[in-house]
Amino acid sequence: MTKIKGKKIKLGIVGGGSGSWIGHVHRIAARFDDQYEIVSGVFSRNPKTSSKFGQSLGINKDRCYSDYKKMANIEAKRTDGINVVAIMTPPGSHQIIAETFINKNINIISDKPFAGNLKQAKSLFKKIKSNKKIKYTLTHNYSAYPMVREAKDLVLKGKIGKINFINVEYVQDWADGNRITKNNSKKILSWKLQKNIVGTSSVLNEIGSHAYHLAIYISGLKAKSIFADIKQVSKKVKMDDNAQVMINFNNDAKGILWTSVSAKGGVYGLRIRLFGEKGSLEWVQNDPGYLKLNPAKKASRLLERGFHEAKFSKNFSRIKYGHPEGYLDAFANIYREFAKSLKNKSGYKYVYPNEDEGLETAKFIEACTVSSKRKRWVKL
Ligand SMILES: NC(=O)c1ccc[n+]([C@@H]2O[C@H](COP(=O)([O-])OP(=O)(O)OC[C@H]3O[C@@H](n4cnc5c(N)ncnc54)[C@H](O)[C@@H]3O)[C@@H](O)[C@H]2O)c1
Repeated sequence: MTKIKGKKIKLGIVGGGSGSWIGHVHRIAARFDDQYEIVSGVFSRNPKTSSKFGQSLGINKDRCYSDYKKMANIEAKRTDGINVVAIMTPPGSHQIIAETFINKNINIISDKPFAGNLKQAKSLFKKIKSNKKIKYTLTHNYSAYPMVREAKDLVLKGKIGKINFINVEYVQDWADGNRITKNNSKKILSWKLQKNIVGTSSVLNEIGSHAYHLAIYISGLKAKSIFADIKQVSKKVKMDDNAQVMINFNNDAKGILWTSVSAKGGVYGLRIRLFGEKGSLEWVQNDPGYLKLNPAKKASRLLERGFHEAKFSKNFSRIKYGHPEGYLDAFANIYREFAKSLKNKSGYKYVYPNEDEGLETAKFIEACTVSSKRKRWVKL
């Protein structure tokens, strides 16, 4: 691996330009712990758009590249070149971009799916395994929730015994959404409707991959054989938007996976249940701080992120137990709103906490101390 000089890891980005879905998530994640510094990138296939956006992030003009090949070549030659590249382009290009950087001994962080299709996946897998100088990670982000990690640890420790059944679902509601019509679907859903870009299956590559990954990540199992029914449910868009899969796992456990992007009202519904010989575990992404442990023939227990009983989850908790996840997001909302206000952006109703509330709070606290001391009502 290229030696990492200095405290921060030098990160380059491919994809995730202005208006992209996942770009800002990667950029925030990279900066969260001050471990990475974003120093270069190509953010669009249009060189001008790419450079403009890169510079808006504070990246030097000469390190905003016109394409990823150029970026790999030049960064590999620089003495202060990138240590890692984060790839967040649509699925069909993950393999070719990753391989280009691996050839230059640059480490990879890639968004899912691993590749657009199996042929690409096999090629990329071989490339990663045959280069001992690089490391690779895939951002199946749900596997990093503290209580998912806790679940994996409990399975590993045999808390629910040998796994006999896994039920996992990830459903969303956009392929058939209110905004989508037969006429605008190609524009709005763009590459998600193009097989050569989205890859083997739209619904499975886009979100089914997360569901399957979660099942194998927590259980440590792999599918041995499957029986799938992939269908188009939507009347508006031409894409495979629903898949039901029966799974036989390699320890003979049975599984069911359902994934859909046309499930009305199914808003980001990712949930998993694992049933073992001694009990079951249940995790739901919409309530991510809790893991339900149901021991066979005993009362259910709700394990909470960061609490004493969920020891392993402490390693992945960024905020103290009792504070639900979202604390950091709320904090960041103040920064974002204040930045808009500093730039005098109009059209917003600014509601960030300010000096008026600051003074009111101080008055309140002072009055409380006076009241407590004098044991009487105090006017503010
Ligand atoms: N991990 C998750 O939870 C999650 C969530 C959403 C999307 N994703 C994945 O992230 C990837 C991107 O999805 P998205 O929804 O952000 O897509 P998007 O279409 O919103 O954004 C893609 C970005 O990549 C840029 N781009 C495309 N080809 C490029 C190239 N060759 N060089 C440089 N830039 C290029 C585009 O200009 C655009 O800015 C997909 O693989 C998707 O499956 C993951």
